[in-house]
Parts: sequence; C-alpha cells; structure tokens
Amino acid sequence: MTSLDRPADWWKSAVVYQIYPRSFMDSNGDGVGDIPGITSRLDYLRRLGIDVLWLSPVYASPMDDNGYDISDYQDVDPLFGTLADLDALIAGCHERGMKVVMDLVVNHTSDEHPWFVESRDPGSPKRNWYWWRPPREGHAGGADGAEPTNWESAFSGSAWAYDERSGEYYLHLFSRKQPDLNWENPEVRAAIHEMMRWWVARGVDGFRMDVINLISKQPDLPDGRVPEGRTYAPAFDSVANGPRLHEFLQEMHREVGLSEHGLLTVGEMPGSTVELARDVTDPARNELNMVFTFEHVALDQDPGGSKWELADLPLPVLKANLDTWQRGLADVGWNSLYWDNHDQPRAVSRFGDDSPPHRVHSAKTLGTVLHLHKGTPYVYQGEELGMTNTYFTDIAQYRDIEAINHHSDAVSLGLAVEVVLEALSVKGRDNARTPMQWDDSPHAGFSDAEPWLPANPNKSEINAAAAVADPDSVFHHYRRLIELRHLHPAVAEGRFRLLLPDDLQIWTFTRTLDEEALLVLANCSSEPATVDPGDVPGLNGATILLGTHEGRDGLDLAPWESRVYVLAD
Ligand code: NOJ
Repeated sequence: MTSLDRPADWWKSAVVYQIYPRSFMDSNGDGVGDIPGITSRLDYLRRLGIDVLWLSPVYASPMDDNGYDISDYQDVDPLFGTLADLDALIAGCHERGMKVVMDLVVNHTSDEHPWFVESRDPGSPKRNWYWWRPPREGHAGGADGAEPTNWESAFSGSAWAYDERSGEYYLHLFSRKQPDLNWENPEVRAAIHEMMRWWVARGVDGFRMDVINLISKQPDLPDGRVPEGRTYAPAFDSVANGPRLHEFLQEMHREVGLSEHGLLTVGEMPGSTVELARDVTDPARNELNMVFTFEHVALDQDPGGSKWELADLPLPVLKANLDTWQRGLADVGWNSLYWDNHDQPRAVSRFGDDSPPHRVHSAKTLGTVLHLHKGTPYVYQGEELGMTNTYFTDIAQYRDIEAINHHSDAVSLGLAVEVVLEALSVKGRDNARTPMQWDDSPHAGFSDAEPWLPANPNKSEINAAAAVADPDSVFHHYRRLIELRHLHPAVAEGRFRLLLPDDLQIWTFTRTLDEEALLVLANCSSEPATVDPGDVPGLNGATILLGTHEGRDGLDLAPWESRVYVLAD
C-alpha cells in the first residue's frame, strides 16, 4: 500500500510493537541483537498481529547510551548490521503488511558526530550548532560552580561539560557524550529535515521522536532550584516545552511532509501535560499524531522526588490519571497507550503481580485494560510474554549508564547502598533490556554466545516457544486484544467512560461507538473481588468477547480476572 491509498489516520486502529535491537535477536553470535536477527523473527510478529514495528536506534553510534548517542544519522552501526540489512527488514515488514517507525534522536547527537567534532573548534561555522557558553561570571573555567547554569543532567552530575580547548562549556542534558543540538539555529533544523526526508524516501513509515519537547529551551537558560542535599537543580522547567516548540514542530511537519507521506509520528515528551498534548496532537495544528506522556509512570515515586524515590501506587490514582488523559483528548488529539518500554521496568512487575500464581493473569489483565482504552497501544518486546524484571542485587550486574551513574552519585551523597540497590532493582532500565526470551535454551534462544546482558533465569518458564504453543498464554491473549482492535471500531474510536473511580480493586469502563457498547471489567488486585450489579449497568444479557478465565461470568472476579463484554442493545 502506498501513502496515497491508506487512510490518513491509519495509526488510530494500529498496534505498535517496540523492538530494542540490542536485546531482541542475535544472528551473528556476538551476544548483541542485530537487524538480520529481527528480520528472522518477523513471522512471530506477524502472528501476534501487530501493525507497526518501532525500532529503537540502530544508527552509527559509540553506544554510550546504547545508540541514543548518534554519530551518523544516515548509516547503521556495524554492531547491528548494514543499511542493506535495514532495507531488507523494511521490505520484509512491508511484504507482511507491517510498517516501520524509526527512532529519531535529534535533541542531541553523539560527541563523535562530525557536526560536534567540527563545532569544538571555536572558529568553526558549526560552533553555533550546539550550546556553547562561557563559565559563570567571576568563575574560572572548570572550577566548582563555574558551569553556566546549575542544571543536573538526566544521567547525574552537571549538564555542562568543560572543554579545555576553548575554555567554554557545552550543554548535555543526558551523558557528556550526548551534546544538545541548538535548534534555535535554522541550519540545524534544515539539516535534520533533510535527513528525515532521506529516511522517508528509503521507505520508513514514521518517527518516534526522542525527548522532542526539549528542542525548544527557555532562551535565557535560567538556573533551577537546587533541592536540599543535592548539588544541581532539575533542568526540566528550563529546557522543556520552550516558547518555540510548536513552531519547530510545525516547520518539521511542513518541511518533511509528515502528513503528505501518511507517517506515524509520536513525540516522547517528559513533563508534558494534557493541555500541551492536546495542542501538539490537534490535527488542525499540523504537529504530531500523538505523544508519550510520563505522568502515569511517575505515580509510583515520591511527588516532587526523582524516579528512585519509591512510593506506593493505589489503583484509583492510576485510573484517575488515565481517565484524565482520555477525557482531555476525547474530542481533539489522540493518546498513545503504554505500560513499559526500554526505559521503564517490566509492566507485570510494576503494575501487576509477577509472583507465580498471578503473573499470567495479571499480565493479561494489564493488557486488557490498556488496549481497551482509546489511543494507539504500544507493546514493548516481551510484554506479550509477561516477561518480568530481573531484580539485580549488585551494581556490577548493570550495564546502563543511568543506573551506574546514579549509584555512584547517590552513594557519594551519603545514601545507603541497600536503598540505592533496592530502587535500581525496581526501576532500573536494564530490567527491560535483558534478552528477549525465545526458548528455554542457555541464552533463551537470543544468542549462541554470552549475551551483553544475561537472560533472565525465568526463561525456562517464560519464553515465546512455550507461549505460542499454549492457546491460553499471555501471547495469545495479546493476539486476541490486537484482533479486537482491528475488528471493533468501538475499541479504536469509541467514547471512554470510567465507572467506579474510587474502587481499590476494580478497573471498569465503557467504550461506545454508534450502536456498539463495550464494557471492560477487570480485577486489578491479587485478591478476589465482587461488583455490585447496580454499579455496572447492562451486564445482564451481555456477551463476553474476551476474558482471562475461561467459562466464568457473573459478579465475582478471581484475582486479576478481566472480561470484555459487548452489551446488549
Ligand atoms: C529517551 C530515550 O528513550 C532514552 O533511552 C535515552 O537515554 C534518552 N532519551 C536520551 O536519548
């Protein structure tokens, strides 16, 4: 199908599957996943029924942040294969009716990108492609407190790195090997647009835009407020959602032809609000199709604290947050729906119950609840198997720069090692990055060699081969959920209404479109639950479309039992 004969908003009934290439499938025995490995598994994805595959970065990279530090936007890193391999993957997807969305990491490059290498020369025409600033007034370059602002990088430490050669600092909101591009400079924007057009011409069907709301920063780069006991201030208020964000997105929309090419665009937007998301995804404004909010994945941390400060998450709080987004984008704009990704812990370990009696049912029920909301659902590799966290106990087991830096920073600031390790085991990104579990062989069928990060030992029970063979598995439940979305317009487009917002166990809501009314009834707890008939009107005479517990109906729900009903008219 070409862009001309698909409906402009085809992504509204689509389900996206995210692949983290380094951990999906290794074809050449070096312990790292690669593109030919992905291609060899396309029939598995086809069987699951997904419409779109989003590839985390496969571009040339020194791999300081596993590819989110790009040194050549128009080449593939040899670790992952070649451009020809990528062409073959795109063709393989298209042959199977699946589309391919590339990760677009343009808030920053690698410090090894030729643009930055050139920019290091103070006299270079590319100097202004990045954020170079002199030391704070009255301070000698490189001295404590001399950084141009007091911002903390997302990976700990100052967000500024000192460059001896010019006596100036450059901004890096992530690692020091990820300098921020200066989007205020029109040459930078033009170069990015040109690169995007090149990928569109190569056949890609969309872009997932990494931290795209950081491209417009507050022009005067204001200092932040340093929390007690810390050295630096959180930078987000000064660098996210700046005054030119909409202008930059509209320009990109126009210059790349995002609509004309029928592309799927999703902006990763930490700190975005419903109001901002509504503006960005309002089709009349020509910006993006949808954004990734971070609100629901910040509910299990101390308000105002960092992701490492753990807090309990009562069900009504989670329901209320998703409801706010459903209502906020009901008439204008569009939601993306996700429980996890390569930056988040595993969904079943975080929002469900990964203990043996409840893992399968809670993984299915989380899938049911999410996929029955209105928006485009994203499945992160292994979520369809109910893969769990790894619960590492030693810092030496981690590979992720965020985890390693946080550990050394927090311990140096006096936090107890056990507290730091506990938070890492619950929230660390490596939980999501252990190899995909294909079978029960020594490295989970991911590789013949020792993987870069060991497979979770529970691969013997949790793996794709076993799940595909078992009609009652999490895999087949996800397959049915995806099928429901394709078959029932009410799943994709129906109006959402939350019932029982305060119930501590039950998540229940309706979706209605024209003549069709669906009801979702889910027990999101590890205890049995009962609903009052008056609370869920219409249950009498309703038919079950999909359930977690074969043959059961009525007002009593087993732990983590969920059902999708179609209500009688
Ligand atoms: C968000 C990406 O998802 C994450 O993995 C990465 O570390 C940062 N952006 C920096 O690119």
